[in-house]
Amino acid sequence: MTQHSGNARTALVVVAHHRTDSLTAHTARRTADRLVAAGYRVDLLDLHAEGFDPRMNTADQPDWGDREKAYSDEAQAHMRRVLDADVVVAVFPVYWQSVPALLKGWIDRVWNYGFAYGRSKPRLAGKRMLWLGLAGATADDPITEAMHSLLETNLSEGIAYYCGFSHSVVGLLTDAEDRPQRVDAEGNLLVGNAVTGAEREAQYAGFDRRAREIVEKFLAAESLAA
Ligand SMILES: Cc1cc2nc3c(=O)[nH]c(=O)nc-3n(C[C@H](O)[C@H](O)[C@H](O)COP(=O)(O)O)c2cc1C
Repeated sequence: MTQHSGNARTALVVVAHHRTDSLTAHTARRTADRLVAAGYRVDLLDLHAEGFDPRMNTADQPDWGDREKAYSDEAQAHMRRVLDADVVVAVFPVYWQSVPALLKGWIDRVWNYGFAYGRSKPRLAGKRMLWLGLAGATADDPITEAMHSLLETNLSEGIAYYCGFSHSVVGLLTDAEDRPQRVDAEGNLLVGNAVTGAEREAQYAGFDRRAREIVEKFLAAESLAA
Protein backbone atom coordinates (compact mmCIF):
# COMPACT_ATOMS: atom_id res chain seq x y z
CA MET A 1 0.00 0.00 0.00
CA THR A 2 1.29 3.45 -0.83
CA GLN A 3 -0.17 6.66 0.50
CA HIS A 4 0.71 9.75 -1.57
CA SER A 5 1.02 13.32 -0.50
CA GLY A 6 2.45 15.60 -3.22
CA ASN A 7 6.24 15.78 -3.60
CA ALA A 8 6.75 14.63 -0.07
CA ARG A 9 9.71 12.72 1.27
CA THR A 10 9.18 8.99 1.32
CA ALA A 11 9.13 6.66 4.30
CA LEU A 12 9.33 2.91 3.85
CA VAL A 13 7.59 1.26 6.81
CA VAL A 14 8.56 -2.41 7.00
CA VAL A 15 6.33 -4.62 9.14
CA ALA A 16 7.64 -8.01 10.19
CA HIS A 17 4.78 -9.92 11.79
CA HIS A 18 2.58 -12.84 10.78
CA ARG A 19 -0.66 -11.49 12.33
CA THR A 20 -2.42 -8.31 11.23
CA ASP A 21 -4.12 -8.12 14.68
CA SER A 22 -0.76 -8.12 16.49
CA LEU A 23 0.48 -5.23 18.60
CA THR A 24 3.36 -5.00 16.13
CA ALA A 25 1.01 -4.50 13.15
CA HIS A 26 -1.06 -2.01 15.15
CA THR A 27 2.11 -0.06 16.04
CA ALA A 28 3.20 -0.10 12.38
CA ARG A 29 -0.17 1.32 11.26
CA ARG A 30 -0.01 4.04 13.91
CA THR A 31 3.53 4.85 12.82
CA ALA A 32 2.51 5.04 9.15
CA ASP A 33 -0.38 7.38 10.06
CA ARG A 34 2.02 9.58 12.02
CA LEU A 35 4.43 9.75 9.09
CA VAL A 36 1.60 10.70 6.72
CA ALA A 37 0.49 13.38 9.19
CA ALA A 38 4.08 14.67 9.21
CA GLY A 39 3.89 15.02 5.41
CA TYR A 40 5.58 11.81 4.27
CA ARG A 41 4.55 9.60 1.40
CA VAL A 42 4.39 6.17 3.04
CA ASP A 43 5.20 2.86 1.38
CA LEU A 44 3.91 0.22 3.80
CA LEU A 45 5.72 -3.07 3.27
CA ASP A 46 4.06 -5.91 5.17
CA LEU A 47 6.60 -8.70 4.58
CA HIS A 48 4.32 -11.54 5.61
CA ALA A 49 1.23 -10.28 3.75
CA GLU A 50 3.33 -9.74 0.61
CA GLY A 51 4.65 -13.29 0.92
CA PHE A 52 8.31 -12.32 1.18
CA ASP A 53 10.47 -15.44 1.40
CA PRO A 54 13.24 -14.80 3.96
CA ARG A 55 15.30 -17.82 2.90
CA MET A 56 18.57 -17.02 1.16
CA ASN A 57 18.78 -18.57 -2.29
CA THR A 58 21.35 -18.96 -5.06
CA ALA A 59 20.09 -16.00 -7.08
CA ASP A 60 20.47 -13.64 -4.13
CA GLN A 61 23.65 -15.05 -2.66
CA PRO A 62 26.38 -12.45 -3.13
CA ASP A 63 29.09 -13.16 -5.67
CA TRP A 64 32.13 -11.50 -4.11
CA GLY A 65 33.77 -11.24 -7.53
CA ASP A 66 30.81 -9.40 -9.10
CA ARG A 67 29.22 -6.50 -7.32
CA GLU A 68 27.06 -5.87 -10.42
CA LYS A 69 25.35 -9.27 -10.05
CA ALA A 70 21.69 -9.17 -11.15
CA TYR A 71 19.79 -10.48 -8.15
CA SER A 72 16.32 -12.05 -8.30
CA ASP A 73 13.41 -9.93 -9.58
CA GLU A 74 11.90 -10.07 -6.10
CA ALA A 75 15.06 -8.75 -4.42
CA GLN A 76 15.46 -6.05 -7.10
CA ALA A 77 11.86 -4.87 -6.60
CA HIS A 78 12.56 -4.53 -2.88
CA MET A 79 15.85 -2.72 -3.57
CA ARG A 80 13.91 -0.12 -5.58
CA ARG A 81 11.55 0.41 -2.64
CA VAL A 82 14.54 0.96 -0.32
CA LEU A 83 16.17 3.32 -2.83
CA ASP A 84 12.95 5.35 -3.15
CA ALA A 85 12.84 5.90 0.61
CA ASP A 86 14.38 8.81 2.50
CA VAL A 87 13.69 7.11 5.79
CA VAL A 88 13.18 3.44 6.62
CA VAL A 89 11.21 2.40 9.69
CA ALA A 90 11.20 -1.30 10.59
CA VAL A 91 8.55 -2.41 13.09
CA PHE A 92 9.08 -5.88 14.55
CA PRO A 93 8.78 -8.05 17.64
CA VAL A 94 12.13 -8.66 19.35
CA TYR A 95 12.93 -12.36 19.02
CA TRP A 96 15.95 -13.65 20.92
CA GLN A 97 17.31 -10.12 21.41
CA SER A 98 17.32 -9.67 17.65
CA VAL A 99 14.95 -9.24 14.70
CA PRO A 100 12.61 -12.06 13.64
CA ALA A 101 13.76 -14.32 10.79
CA LEU A 102 11.32 -12.63 8.39
CA LEU A 103 13.06 -9.25 8.78
CA LYS A 104 16.52 -10.76 8.96
CA GLY A 105 15.92 -12.60 5.68
CA TRP A 106 14.73 -9.38 4.05
CA ILE A 107 17.98 -7.70 5.04
CA ASP A 108 20.05 -10.73 3.99
CA ARG A 109 18.47 -10.92 0.52
CA VAL A 110 17.75 -7.26 -0.24
CA TRP A 111 20.51 -5.26 1.49
CA ASN A 112 22.89 -7.05 -0.76
CA TYR A 113 26.49 -6.74 -1.93
CA GLY A 114 26.94 -4.06 -4.60
CA PHE A 115 23.62 -2.48 -3.63
CA ALA A 116 23.72 -1.80 0.09
CA TYR A 117 27.46 -2.20 0.65
CA GLY A 118 30.67 -2.84 -1.25
CA ARG A 119 30.88 0.50 -3.09
CA SER A 120 32.96 3.58 -2.36
CA LYS A 121 29.75 5.63 -2.78
CA PRO A 122 27.07 3.66 -0.90
CA ARG A 123 23.67 3.84 -2.62
CA LEU A 124 21.94 4.08 0.74
CA ALA A 125 24.12 6.99 1.89
CA GLY A 126 22.23 9.71 3.69
CA LYS A 127 19.13 7.65 4.44
CA ARG A 128 17.86 7.47 7.98
CA MET A 129 16.62 4.45 9.87
CA LEU A 130 14.40 3.77 12.85
CA TRP A 131 14.23 0.24 14.20
CA LEU A 132 11.09 -0.02 16.32
CA GLY A 133 11.26 -3.23 18.33
CA LEU A 134 8.50 -4.56 20.58
CA ALA A 135 9.79 -6.62 23.49
CA GLY A 136 7.97 -8.83 25.94
CA ALA A 137 10.37 -7.88 28.74
CA THR A 138 9.23 -5.25 31.23
CA ALA A 139 10.94 -1.85 31.40
CA ASP A 140 12.31 -2.57 34.89
CA ASP A 141 13.75 -5.96 33.93
CA PRO A 142 17.56 -5.75 34.26
CA ILE A 143 17.84 -7.54 30.90
CA THR A 144 16.24 -4.61 29.06
CA GLU A 145 19.20 -2.21 29.05
CA ALA A 146 21.60 -4.86 27.77
CA MET A 147 19.05 -5.93 25.16
CA HIS A 148 18.71 -2.36 23.91
CA SER A 149 22.43 -1.90 23.62
CA LEU A 150 22.82 -5.26 21.88
CA LEU A 151 20.15 -4.24 19.35
CA GLU A 152 21.91 -0.89 18.75
CA THR A 153 25.20 -2.65 18.13
CA ASN A 154 23.69 -5.26 15.83
CA LEU A 155 21.19 -3.14 13.89
CA SER A 156 22.64 0.37 13.86
CA GLU A 157 26.37 -0.36 13.90
CA GLY A 158 26.39 -3.75 12.24
CA ILE A 159 23.82 -3.09 9.52
CA ALA A 160 22.63 0.51 8.95
CA TYR A 161 25.94 2.37 9.41
CA TYR A 162 27.79 -0.40 7.59
CA CYS A 163 25.45 0.32 4.66
CA GLY A 164 26.08 4.08 4.70
CA PHE A 165 22.97 5.30 6.53
CA SER A 166 23.60 8.72 8.06
CA HIS A 167 21.49 8.03 11.14
CA SER A 168 20.13 4.90 12.79
CA VAL A 169 18.47 4.39 16.14
CA VAL A 170 16.68 1.55 17.91
CA GLY A 171 13.45 2.42 19.72
CA LEU A 172 12.72 -0.35 22.20
CA LEU A 173 9.10 -0.73 23.27
CA THR A 174 9.08 -2.90 26.37
CA ASP A 175 5.99 -4.40 28.05
CA ALA A 176 4.54 -5.57 24.74
CA GLU A 177 2.86 -8.59 26.38
CA ASP A 178 -0.47 -8.49 28.21
CA ARG A 179 1.13 -10.94 30.65
CA PRO A 180 4.26 -9.16 31.97
CA GLN A 181 7.44 -11.20 31.59
CA ARG A 182 10.72 -11.01 33.44
CA VAL A 183 13.66 -13.28 34.00
CA ASP A 184 14.78 -13.88 37.60
CA ALA A 185 18.36 -14.21 38.85
CA GLU A 186 18.30 -17.96 38.17
CA GLY A 187 17.20 -17.43 34.58
CA ASN A 188 13.59 -18.54 35.08
CA LEU A 189 10.98 -16.79 32.98
CA LEU A 190 8.36 -15.34 35.30
CA VAL A 191 5.05 -14.68 33.56
CA GLY A 192 2.64 -12.44 35.47
CA ASN A 193 -1.16 -12.36 35.41
CA ALA A 194 -2.90 -11.15 32.28
CA VAL A 195 -3.79 -7.47 32.37
CA THR A 196 -7.47 -6.98 31.56
CA GLY A 197 -10.21 -4.36 31.33
CA ALA A 198 -9.39 -0.75 32.13
CA GLU A 199 -5.87 -1.68 33.19
CA ARG A 200 -5.27 -3.22 29.75
CA GLU A 201 -6.69 -0.12 28.04
CA ALA A 202 -4.32 2.04 30.09
CA GLN A 203 -1.42 -0.28 29.26
CA TYR A 204 -2.13 0.00 25.54
CA ALA A 205 -2.62 3.77 25.71
CA GLY A 206 0.75 4.02 27.47
CA PHE A 207 2.29 1.78 24.85
CA ASP A 208 0.91 3.94 22.00
CA ARG A 209 2.20 7.07 23.73
CA ARG A 210 5.72 5.64 24.08
CA ALA A 211 5.70 4.55 20.43
CA ARG A 212 4.53 8.01 19.34
CA GLU A 213 7.27 9.69 21.39
CA ILE A 214 9.96 7.55 19.79
CA VAL A 215 8.66 8.27 16.26
CA GLU A 216 8.33 12.00 16.98
CA LYS A 217 11.84 12.21 18.39
CA PHE A 218 13.15 10.44 15.29
CA LEU A 219 11.21 12.82 13.01
CA ALA A 220 12.40 15.90 14.92
CA ALA A 221 16.02 14.80 14.36
CA GLU A 222 15.11 14.08 10.73
CA SER A 223 13.74 17.57 10.10
CA LEU A 224 16.85 19.14 11.67
CA ALA A 225 19.02 17.06 9.34
CA ALA A 226 16.93 17.70 6.19
C1 LIG B 1 10.61 -16.65 19.35
C2 LIG B 1 10.40 -15.52 20.34
C3 LIG B 1 11.51 -14.93 20.93
C4 LIG B 1 11.36 -13.86 21.81
N1 LIG B 1 12.47 -13.28 22.34
C5 LIG B 1 12.33 -12.21 23.16
C6 LIG B 1 13.48 -11.55 23.68
O1 LIG B 1 14.63 -11.93 23.44
N2 LIG B 1 13.29 -10.49 24.52
C7 LIG B 1 12.02 -10.03 24.83
O2 LIG B 1 11.90 -9.05 25.56
N3 LIG B 1 10.91 -10.62 24.33
C8 LIG B 1 11.04 -11.69 23.49
N4 LIG B 1 9.92 -12.30 22.97
C9 LIG B 1 8.59 -11.71 23.24
C10 LIG B 1 8.16 -10.83 22.05
O3 LIG B 1 9.02 -9.74 21.89
C11 LIG B 1 6.72 -10.36 22.26
O4 LIG B 1 5.92 -11.51 22.30
C12 LIG B 1 6.22 -9.48 21.15
O5 LIG B 1 6.93 -8.28 21.08
C13 LIG B 1 4.75 -9.13 21.36
O6 LIG B 1 4.29 -8.39 20.25
P1 LIG B 1 3.21 -9.04 19.25
O7 LIG B 1 1.96 -9.27 20.05
O8 LIG B 1 3.01 -8.02 18.18
O9 LIG B 1 3.78 -10.35 18.73
C14 LIG B 1 10.05 -13.38 22.11
C15 LIG B 1 8.94 -14.00 21.53
C16 LIG B 1 9.10 -15.05 20.67
C17 LIG B 1 7.88 -15.70 20.06
